[in-house]
Amino acid sequence: MKYLVFVVVAIVCTHMGFSQGNTHKQAGGKFEGLSMTPPMGWNSWNTFATNIDEKMVKETADIMVSSGLTAAGYNYIVLDDGWMTKERDENGNLVPDPVKFPSGMEHLIEYVHAKGLKFGLYNCAGTQTCAGYPGTRGYEYQDARYYAKLGIDFLKYDWCNTEGITAKEAYNTMSNAIKKAGRPIVFSICEWGDNQPWEWAEPMGNLWRVSGDIYPCFDCEFKHPENWSSWGFMKIVEMRKDIRKYSGPDHWNDFDMMEVGNEMNDTEDKSHFTMWCMMASPLFTGNDYRKMTKETLAILTNKELIAINQDKLGVQGFKYSAEDGLEVWVKPISKGNWVVTFLNRSEVAKKINFNWQKHLIKDADFGFEADFGKVVYKLKDLWKNKEVGSTKKVFTSEIAPHDVVTLKLSL
Ligand code: GLA
Repeated sequence: MKYLVFVVVAIVCTHMGFSQGNTHKQAGGKFEGLSMTPPMGWNSWNTFATNIDEKMVKETADIMVSSGLTAAGYNYIVLDDGWMTKERDENGNLVPDPVKFPSGMEHLIEYVHAKGLKFGLYNCAGTQTCAGYPGTRGYEYQDARYYAKLGIDFLKYDWCNTEGITAKEAYNTMSNAIKKAGRPIVFSICEWGDNQPWEWAEPMGNLWRVSGDIYPCFDCEFKHPENWSSWGFMKIVEMRKDIRKYSGPDHWNDFDMMEVGNEMNDTEDKSHFTMWCMMASPLFTGNDYRKMTKETLAILTNKELIAINQDKLGVQGFKYSAEDGLEVWVKPISKGNWVVTFLNRSEVAKKINFNWQKHLIKDADFGFEADFGKVVYKLKDLWKNKEVGSTKKVFTSEIAPHDVVTLKLSL
């Protein structure tokens, strides 16, 4: 009888995941609640690629705080590819590059933390990162323990050199490894949308990239000689406008690090930033803060736009209409309010002539509705920071090529 009780208890425990040998599989689930609004910060890749170093990162952290970016909400400093040496050490540990980071990674992380900021690193699920540094495949638990010991707050986990493994399993393993290591770390999934992470990654990650890499242009496709493409920001928005029901608090569709302040003009940068806010995308700046113009800073710190991005409802916007290159994008936000962005996708100036009374906006995925025949909203132009009447009157405005007009509609 005693033996029978033991066997029954053992079977039940194994099923419930209490068995010792199985703890890795059972660790399960991301750290919840770390990104209830889209995370905001800076990532090194778009400007610096692998040319990163301690001095530049410290200067970036300094400027993030002194320029007002932190006050506006940006608080993650994330080092992308290129922070390691080309080989692990004799114990299989990752080694931060001592030439790029002469005072050590611990020192840099302390420096960033002392400024009240958070710190992130990058690696890949494959055998090597995209730039040829040691990947995590086969070292998941060891690397997660290392990140926890270093005290990082964010891990971007990429998808190069992953032949023969499946994305869902690989990301689940790393998510479990982070959980087991015990330090709450935002897990940023980056497999470029190739395996539809929005369908399976919510229990594992806090955000997932939805496309290949961004390119600093409005609507172009940049074809790399090695047979892959990078995408202008509107290409990414268009590509992933229909997976909005999968995005929300703590599980965001990530439209990639921004190119604001890089190669586009201020009008296009303003539209780029606006669309990232409309799509409730994570907001990672990808520019060199040390060379930032006041126009770029003003775009990145527009408080009203950031409030749209950070709205607690966490709903990704959608395209309401498009006619002759003039598009209307809408986003439901808290308290029954809405944001409407007119976007001139064309190369010529256009006139906006929007008679609210003729429109009924329905959000088929989340069930919100704006019935202008029944309800009157006040209008505020968020880029002009100006009240502009209400939905009782036809809204008219000029709109330059590639520009936006963004209105907040309040009850
Ligand atoms: C991939 C990612 C980029 C960047 C590079 C680094 O291309 O999509 O965001 O991390 O790798 O090598």
